[in-house]
Amino acid sequence: MILNHPEKPLNFSDFLVIGAGLAGMDIALRLSEHGSVVLLSKAEACESNSRYAQGGIAAVLNPDDRRKSHEADTHTAGVGLCNTDTVRFVVKNGQKAIQHLIDLGVSFTKDEQNHEAYHLTREGGHSARRVIHNADATGKTVVETLLQQVKKHPDIQLIQNQISIDLVTSHKLGQYLPGQPNRCLGGHVLDIKTGQVNTFRARFVILATGGAGKVYLYTSNPDIATGDGIAMAYRAGCRVANMEFIQFHPTCLFHPQAKSFLVSEAVRGEGGRLILANGEAFMQRHDPRGELAPRDIVARAIDFEMKRTGDDCVFLDITHKGAEFIKSHFPTIFEKCASLGIDMTKEPIPVVPAAHYTCGGIVTHLSAKTDIHGLYAIGETAHTGLHGACRLASNSLLECLVFSEAAYKDIVRHLQETPKRPLESIPLWDSFDTTPCEEAVLISHDWDEIRRFMWNYVGIVRSDHRLARARRRIEMLRQEINQYYWNCKITQDLVELRNIAVVAELIIRSALNRKESRGLHYTTNYPDLDEACNKDTILPISSP
Ligand code: FAD
Ligand code: SIN
Repeated sequence: MILNHPEKPLNFSDFLVIGAGLAGMDIALRLSEHGSVVLLSKAEACESNSRYAQGGIAAVLNPDDRRKSHEADTHTAGVGLCNTDTVRFVVKNGQKAIQHLIDLGVSFTKDEQNHEAYHLTREGGHSARRVIHNADATGKTVVETLLQQVKKHPDIQLIQNQISIDLVTSHKLGQYLPGQPNRCLGGHVLDIKTGQVNTFRARFVILATGGAGKVYLYTSNPDIATGDGIAMAYRAGCRVANMEFIQFHPTCLFHPQAKSFLVSEAVRGEGGRLILANGEAFMQRHDPRGELAPRDIVARAIDFEMKRTGDDCVFLDITHKGAEFIKSHFPTIFEKCASLGIDMTKEPIPVVPAAHYTCGGIVTHLSAKTDIHGLYAIGETAHTGLHGACRLASNSLLECLVFSEAAYKDIVRHLQETPKRPLESIPLWDSFDTTPCEEAVLISHDWDEIRRFMWNYVGIVRSDHRLARARRRIEMLRQEINQYYWNCKITQDLVELRNIAVVAELIIRSALNRKESRGLHYTTNYPDLDEACNKDTILPISSP
């Protein structure tokens, strides 16, 4: 795009937060003490991955639990790739992060026996009960509570239905001043309702755009999860790491009318068993930890059994816990199943694995800084080193909170030295030479094609042959999509398609780089773990 022709005047704030899930809302609330905040969300602000979180938030809250064991469980799930400093930092700050939510007014389920204490549930890979939750709707409770605070805050301007297209940096504008690093100046943002592109300028920019589940055909993620932050940061010159580690959640509801509905791991944590159509339990055949093995192992076991039996799904059975227990612990899941004619108190739930979480992302430091000055990344879009080759259940919401605070502190430390008003001018967006896309249907064909081949060739079980096929297709599609991008009038569909294509390519290239199987990356060509590969996959910075 040529960036000279003014479409609309510039919006200026001290802080521009792109993304209004848990990470984005939390940092917006924190930063609002120090200046004006613009907070953007792509859909209505209540729509995000955070909103759908069920199981809860992992933290050492039980007096019998130990930080060392939360750290050890995180490392075990991450199969040697977690960063030791990051894991220690996150676990150490866990209790404080939960208290912060309680102080903001979030309510959590109390223990049935001891009403003074919170109920802690258990999930796969955890050696203790340490997941604090609000029944099976933790994300909804957290998001609604924070959103109330955000909406009434005078210094936060929440703007909904805004899709950030790209970041603007000093280097992109050709400003290579001697001794000056590449600095993020703001971004261009499409107002989805009006079709207008606005330019936002800020002293600090925080990416909190979440994950990329929508790159895959089947996912637990809502439609917003198109990896926009990862693609934007990569295009702007940030390193991106470990994109081959896409987490597949073992148990999403299998039903033609159930789009992206998760059946929480807490169901297994509270005793749910995975069975085949003939009633046979199978997890012990795959791992001695059974249903509570880390997610990569359970998802692969289900994939294996489905391929072996030819069945479309397996089943999750918790009927032995009784109706009262099930309805009080899992009201959301019970209601959803009931609405589709499945009574989970009397019959097992049909489930399949689906893409759930992006373990890799934008490389950040312990302060949430990225490679670009003034640009921070927090939440699922970031790669902090916490998750390694497979994320431990319920460590993600915790990571959002811990790194929101870390970024906040770092920004406040640098506030004084950052000019109050921008020195550089940002050119505004120009859509002068573009025309509406003649065949919008081609854009939806590309969407479908990418998501389908990512599922088929870059899914739970991979091979060199399938990855090479996927690479050929994505290279061709990216060229085609770039042409649309330069020639067609910008739309949300096009912005997202361009981003899922970048993210798909990053996943494929990272997967091809890793010549071993580890955690979530399993390839039939290299089925074993290789100690020589015990390092992060960091993709070189993209050429401008
Ligand atoms: P999100 O909550 O996804 O928010 C992203 C925000 O960015 C949204 O507001 C979106 O509109 C906005 N956005 C995206 N792109 C753009 C753009 N281009 N321009 C402007 N705005 C944009 N983790 C746990 O720890 N415990 C759980 O129990 C748990 N359960 C889960 C259940 C489900 C069904 C899912 C999908 C995930 C679950 N996770 C859980 C993972 C966890 O919810 C997410 O990793 C976490 O919520 C991510 O938070 P976030 O703030 O980084 O991103
Ligand atoms: C779940 O409730 O199973 C999701 C937990 C998570 O993704 O951490």
